[in-house]
Amino acid sequence: MKTMVTGCNGFIGTHLVRRLLNEGFRVRGYDLKKSSITDPNFEFIQGDILDMEKLRESMDGCESVFHLAAQTTVPESTSDPYHDFKTNAEGTFNVLLAAKELGAKVIYTSTSTVYGLADTPTNESHPLKPISFYGASKAAGDLYCFAFHHTFEADTVILRLYNVYGPGNGKGVMYDLFKKLERDSSHLEVIGTGLQRKDYVYIDDVIDAFLITYEKGASGEAYNVGSGVSVTVNEIVKNILDILQLNPEITYTGQSWEGDVESALADISRFKSLGWRPKVSIEDGIRRTYEWLKD
Ligand SMILES: NC(=O)c1ccc[n+]([C@@H]2O[C@H](COP(=O)([O-])OP(=O)(O)OC[C@H]3O[C@@H](n4cnc5c(N)ncnc54)[C@H](O)[C@@H]3O)[C@@H](O)[C@H]2O)c1
Repeated sequence: MKTMVTGCNGFIGTHLVRRLLNEGFRVRGYDLKKSSITDPNFEFIQGDILDMEKLRESMDGCESVFHLAAQTTVPESTSDPYHDFKTNAEGTFNVLLAAKELGAKVIYTSTSTVYGLADTPTNESHPLKPISFYGASKAAGDLYCFAFHHTFEADTVILRLYNVYGPGNGKGVMYDLFKKLERDSSHLEVIGTGLQRKDYVYIDDVIDAFLITYEKGASGEAYNVGSGVSVTVNEIVKNILDILQLNPEITYTGQSWEGDVESALADISRFKSLGWRPKVSIEDGIRRTYEWLKD
């Protein structure tokens, strides 16, 4: 099977491409930035999802598309909402249109951020009420998936990922904390109050989720992909300090970034009904992330 992965050079894209190759797929990667993966079954095309002609040509021959390319941070969406809108809303529209013309299935990588300040645990029927530009532009992608599915019977499935972490992630709370402690082990500044409570899901579990969606995901459907457990930033800090055996002075900025959803927990029962289970505990996942950072 030949499949395309947009955003193949990103954190999740790199893991996904490796796994798809292991599963016997032929993969065409599409990204602004060059991928370092070399494999006879991997073909890289450097391109922009906003370049419709190149995207169309590049997708030719692919029976499915894992669409991951995006502007991926809330703070950057606040500082440049237009760029965020173009990449995430228009870019996703382009991917859906090109795929529809070719009859290719699209697995769209959305985010829990689309729910905004939701009651927890949150299920997929919750209204999309984002509080950030990133949440809004990603929610536009969800809505276009539904519209392409209902209007053209396009094969689209949405995965709403919670906080993905693990080896290869050069952003996010764990990376931030480890890096700060590497620079200064006597003091740790935590962003926010430390009481933010989120759902962290380990990268290998997320890659399993993509494969299960490819096989069993219902067209026109959205699925939450989280661990189904929420932990506070303070709990993550304690875990990291235990691993590093450090006892620094801890200070808090008191405020998180604009648009941050400070409480998130996925209801994962819909995705579990496809046979998926998150396997990696937060303690294990943080340890594996540490092993990667150490290397
Ligand atoms: N990492 C998470 O915790 C998380 C959570 C929820 C959803 N997601 C979604 O998962 C997807 C992947 O996230 P990630 O963490 O791997 O992000 P990432 O920032 O590591 O990777 C994104 C990739 O997209 C590429 N890209 C950006 N604009 C592009 C464009 N115009 N054309 C082509 N390529 C472009 C970038 O070069 C990069 O390689 C994104 O759609 C993101 O919104 C991620």
